[in-house]
Amino acid sequence: MAGPTPSAAGNPLTALTLDELRRRSSVKWRMHPPDVLPLWVAEQDVPLAPPVADVLRRAVDLGDTGYPHGTAYAEALGGFAADRWGWDGFRVDHTTVVPDVMMGIVEVLRLVTGPGDAVVVCPPVYPPFYAFVSHADRRVIEAPLGPDLRLDHAALDEAFRRARALGRRPAFLLCNPHNPTGVVHRRDELDAVADLAGRHGVRVVSDEIHAPLALPGARFTPYLTVAGAEDAFALTSASKAWNLAGLKAALAVAGPRAVADLHRMPEEVSHGPSHLGVLAHTAAFRAGGPWLDLLLDGLDANRTLLETLLAKHLPAISHRRPEGTYLAWLDCTGLGIPTEAPAGRPGVASDLAGPARFFLDRARVALSSGHVFGTGGTGFVRLNFATSPAILTEALTRMGRAVDTLGPRA
Ligand SMILES: Cc1ncc(COP(=O)(O)O)c(C=O)c1O
Repeated sequence: MAGPTPSAAGNPLTALTLDELRRRSSVKWRMHPPDVLPLWVAEQDVPLAPPVADVLRRAVDLGDTGYPHGTAYAEALGGFAADRWGWDGFRVDHTTVVPDVMMGIVEVLRLVTGPGDAVVVCPPVYPPFYAFVSHADRRVIEAPLGPDLRLDHAALDEAFRRARALGRRPAFLLCNPHNPTGVVHRRDELDAVADLAGRHGVRVVSDEIHAPLALPGARFTPYLTVAGAEDAFALTSASKAWNLAGLKAALAVAGPRAVADLHRMPEEVSHGPSHLGVLAHTAAFRAGGPWLDLLLDGLDANRTLLETLLAKHLPAISHRRPEGTYLAWLDCTGLGIPTEAPAGRPGVASDLAGPARFFLDRARVALSSGHVFGTGGTGFVRLNFATSPAILTEALTRMGRAVDTLGPRA
């Protein structure tokens, strides 16, 4: 089905066939039976970027599989951040390597909040924000996105006030860019966040794992480059953009007034990342730019293809064109699919209910169920379009056929 076409030369999203992808053993390809097209978890259907594959091959050939050492990862991120985002003040000595972004978030929250303190999130949002924050004995407070799916500063103001009243040291876990909506927050929106956080005494922790995936037309703003963000933290990794989730390594970056907190990070946290992970992520940020540009072109084309396919097969689904990431947040409330009370709760990423259950059962397409993304998620699905145009077309065609069997709406 999928295969390279002359016009798609160089597009990493068309390099692998469906048969090759089905030989993968990661969760995306093994969670469901082989007749299911998996467009759920944030793995991409791409081969490794050549500089990443080369560095891993060299390490394996040498048996270079010990513990990581040095600051090469942070230096590579610093170079990438300066080139792509104009972040000139990036300081390698204000970073530390952490096992992955979510563990980094938990460790940073342990530095800047206490047990029982409040952590504000903006749903619908990446489900593990709920699970990890609760597991770390912190309390989640929601400040839902506005109707335009962008940050709602009035809701944040109110949530920060409640967070402050509840806990001694509240924090705000920002998703920048935002998963699942694909919104790339603008600098003025982040300025307003910093202003509110400063006024309420809330520490901001910015998850920037999707930062390299700002699509044409959008510009990513690192939160730490915003005035008033000096006491904030950012967590970054090459994992989403270069598909390296299986090679654990990420970076925590402290603003100038958070460096003293960073120094309190227990030494053992740096034992978590794998040496192969650090090598791979370093190579991605240092030399993976040309490959990333090809990927971004492919994702841009897929985002347009998705709009065309939705208009053709599923006109009752509405969505806003994502500005970044490879995730589309689809409003299925107009389909007439019964949205029974969700089986699960926010945070359990594999739970299925409503439209996601329907599309899995009736179209054999696996999507992420909206209800696990918190308030505002019920009746939505998240679709991962980091796949070939052929797979995307087949999936949307199947989804359209399944909806047609529902007949006209009463
Ligand atoms: C916003 C966000 N943060 C964190 C992660 C997970 O990152 P890691 O595997 O480095 O913990 C993801 C994965 O999709 C994500 O979308």
